[in-house]
Amino acid sequence: MPKIKNIYLCEQCGTNFPQWHGQCPECNAWGSIHESFAKNKKNENVIAKTPTLLSKVQSKKVERVSTQIIELDRVLGGGIVSGSVTLVGGDPGIGKSTILIQAISNLTRDLNTLYISGEESAEQIKLRAERLKLKLDQINIITEVNLELIIETFLNQKPDLVVIDSIQTLFTESFSSPPGSVTQVRECASQLTRYAKSNNCSVIIVGHVTKEGAIAGPRILEHIVDTVLYFEGDNSSTHRMIRSIKNRFGSVNEIGIFAMTEFGLKSIKNPSAIFLAARKKNFLGSSVMVTQEGTRPLLIEIQALVDNTNSGYPKRHTIGLESNRILMILAVLNKYLSIPLHEYDVFVNAVGGVKISEPASDLSVFSAIYSSFKMKPLPHDAIFFGEIGLSGEIRPVVKGQERIHEAQSHGFKKIFLPHGNVSKTKYNDIEIVGLTRIEELIHFLNN
Ligand code: TYD
Ligand code: MG
Repeated sequence: MPKIKNIYLCEQCGTNFPQWHGQCPECNAWGSIHESFAKNKKNENVIAKTPTLLSKVQSKKVERVSTQIIELDRVLGGGIVSGSVTLVGGDPGIGKSTILIQAISNLTRDLNTLYISGEESAEQIKLRAERLKLKLDQINIITEVNLELIIETFLNQKPDLVVIDSIQTLFTESFSSPPGSVTQVRECASQLTRYAKSNNCSVIIVGHVTKEGAIAGPRILEHIVDTVLYFEGDNSSTHRMIRSIKNRFGSVNEIGIFAMTEFGLKSIKNPSAIFLAARKKNFLGSSVMVTQEGTRPLLIEIQALVDNTNSGYPKRHTIGLESNRILMILAVLNKYLSIPLHEYDVFVNAVGGVKISEPASDLSVFSAIYSSFKMKPLPHDAIFFGEIGLSGEIRPVVKGQERIHEAQSHGFKKIFLPHGNVSKTKYNDIEIVGLTRIEELIHFLNN
């Protein structure tokens, strides 16, 4: 008999250790390490694999089914791919169950679907579906948390699409750790993925983002699944955004924009107009940019507030933008324009809850900060986009033409952009101002 070697696994962070510890040396959690039995038995049925030439591989056409929710299809890359595994993550109460029951209801016409809930009772799900005015006699549900039972049901029912709501409630009997622990979450997701791939069944897994960060949350599953969608923004506003973080069947960083209504989540057709709806003329520190998220340009208002600091440590606070880029812009303002922002607190916000991570926002952030500092509003019909370099130069960004078109279609009359993004195209109703350095922008804004 070969000796079975035990390993010790941290339930918090998933790290393995050869011996037990009271406190995890990796994530510092107390009492989180438990014994786990490593398989040491040699499998007699192993057969060596023969490599295949790529040219001999048969390519299958990707089959997709539309959810008939335009914005959800957009983030999925056109619909749900058969046999794919999708993770839908987000804070509790943001609308994950709502959108998925809406999608299931639309998909029942073409697919054999199953909604597995481990969180809510059948009555609660029925109440929600009634509220959403869905066809109750077409939605099949099961309330269960035992993975072995769930998989057995799948083998029996042969569904084409299943929704698991949520992965944190499931448990497999092969591990003794509680539901929601790293081991359970990872093992349940792996088994579901194996089922999906070998039975060509699409699986949508709901994962709550936990307060402590993402340790036992959906993050640990990102590499297992094909597509990762996260809800963004806060659930105090009526807008909801879903962003694709990973997509083996579509583009990443695509965002779907929805409104939470009394009849569930509705796709927003013209998100740029919604984001700018509350914008007023002559606001100090307000600037509009075009961000290119995924395949779609979006108009977003950037607001800045520059205020005298009360302490020796001026505050820098950003919402929806990268704080390191803001620090760099402040340094550029100080170095090349001698604007002493170390005497001021600076707050910058991307309105509407969108997270912008591209450097194209630099020019807009820069002009918003400048406007607030100088107490002079920016032209109401102007758009700003472009990257600012450490020497104060303005660098071109991707998809300049798409951004110009978006600004134009929303009636903007002037656009400040990197000189490198100016093309030969002539525009009649919009003035294009190509810039190479920040001093040129200041010259325009002061006159
Ligand atoms: P839910 O989908 O249950 O969130 P999650 O599954 O992500 O935890 O969404 C619950 C919230 O949505 C709740 O605060 C009520 C709100 N809601 C509406 O505003 N309209 C609706 O039609 C529904 C069903 C929910
Ligand atoms: Mg839910």
